[in-house]
Amino acid sequence: MRVLSGIQPSGSLHIGNYFAMMRRMIEFQKEHQLFCFIVNYHALTTVTDPNLLKENTKNAILDFLSLGLDPDKSIFWVQGDVPEVTELTWILCNHAPVGLLERAHSYKDKLAKGLSAHNGLFSYPVLMAADILLYQADAVPVGKDQKQHLEITRDIAIKFNNTYGETFVLPEPWIPEETATVPGVDGQKMSKSYGNTLEIFSSKGQLKKKVMRIVTDSTPVEEPKDPEKCNVFNIIRLFLSEAEQEELAARYTAGGMGYGEVKKELLARMWEYFAPYREKREQLVNDMGYIHEVMKKGQEKARAIATVTLDDVREKVGLNY
Ligand code: TYM
Repeated sequence: MRVLSGIQPSGSLHIGNYFAMMRRMIEFQKEHQLFCFIVNYHALTTVTDPNLLKENTKNAILDFLSLGLDPDKSIFWVQGDVPEVTELTWILCNHAPVGLLERAHSYKDKLAKGLSAHNGLFSYPVLMAADILLYQADAVPVGKDQKQHLEITRDIAIKFNNTYGETFVLPEPWIPEETATVPGVDGQKMSKSYGNTLEIFSSKGQLKKKVMRIVTDSTPVEEPKDPEKCNVFNIIRLFLSEAEQEELAARYTAGGMGYGEVKKELLARMWEYFAPYREKREQLVNDMGYIHEVMKKGQEKARAIATVTLDDVREKVGLNY
């Protein structure tokens, strides 16, 4: 089965990205044909500083490799290194109803904030559809915020298939309940653009500051608390086994435990969890030659598959005359 997902290099990667997508992808590489990529064309919709985009892209590559993505077992590349995807985007634009794109949350949110959206943001879901359809992916592991984009992808694929005959595989979103929406320090969805993230590879001092800022209610220490309603619990549980979660939940309901205590535990857990990966990252960061070599190989593997789909599409729509 072909499993595909991408991540934007629009800021430092966080534990929402990790639990909803990165960790799962790294797990899936064992049993599936894995397609994993850094979507720098998508990041152009928000990042206008070229040096920042380059830095973020390198960091995202380093993060994935340090966390265990194996470039020999999977196809790992940078979206912009296979520009065929932009050609498919243009072709698919002609099968993407404006009304459908106008209903996209990311676009609507921007308009609701009174910001003027550019065409890149409006067409973002079409580029994402092209990403997925170009590689004929069967399944796409993502967080819940991407569900609508997957629906749009399927709609576009169905329209295209109906017009030109069976061409694209219809992809299934894979969104497990436990990691569908990881909360940030303020209780909203954790997001690079809300400044509420716990980053995978930040310094201990930075991490401590963020953890201590996690918003909680004002229930006094001695009183019982509801774990389900607590942001700290909803974050720390990602690092705990079932049994540990139950044990912690019991401490909440028994009373006598303050939120500060759980925050300290979260900090310790998270720091320990990522320790081996941090070490790997420190080694890799000094070997950019290796990183470029890996990405070049990924580009070649991805392109070989992309061109097969694109040749078929060009033929079907009549571009080969
Ligand atoms: P991006 O870069 O915003 O996020 C990468 C992945 O992390 C998930 N995610 C979360 N999941 C749960 N809780 C959160 N707080 C949280 N924050 C982020 C996202 O759902 C995503 O799975 N449009 C995509 C990138 C993309 C893509 C693709 C994905 C471009 N082309 C093709 C799949 C297939 C995005 O912006 O993800």
